[in-house]
Amino acid sequence: MSTVLVLNGPNLGRLGSREPDVYGSANLDDLRALLTASAPDGVTIDLRQTDDEAELIHWLYEAVDNSLPVIINPAAFTHYSYALRDAAALVTTAGLELIEVHISNPHARETFRHTSVVSAIATGVIAGLGFDSYRLALDFVTRKH
Ligand code: DQA
Repeated sequence: MSTVLVLNGPNLGRLGSREPDVYGSANLDDLRALLTASAPDGVTIDLRQTDDEAELIHWLYEAVDNSLPVIINPAAFTHYSYALRDAAALVTTAGLELIEVHISNPHARETFRHTSVVSAIATGVIAGLGFDSYRLALDFVTRKH
């Protein structure tokens, strides 16, 4: 593995200005810089964001086709997208790691956020630790590198 896909779903492109009390004031460029600095030598961080469910699904196919581990914050898709769940299942059934991450702790928020349709097929879930959720997921997927 030389690349880790770090996929971000809808509205995460607005990090920095979106609900800073919940998500903090750093943006996706800050996250990319943090992960790039944290990655072991030889590991490339490919961080992407989309508001489009189909695009996110196609990126998961790309992970399967290129045998790449995935760190994914599915954002609101977490709570209802069976299509995303089925695509994410292709990653883990291919034997690749897929870590579901959240900046906030959805279980401490509104009831609709307590359900994740992705968690059951994920390798693991890290939530509520801000950008450290991603950093810890990166440590995990690169631990044997
Ligand atoms: C989120 C939590 C989701 O409930 C929400 O829809 C998001 C962000 C998080 O990172 O805390 O957009 O995934």
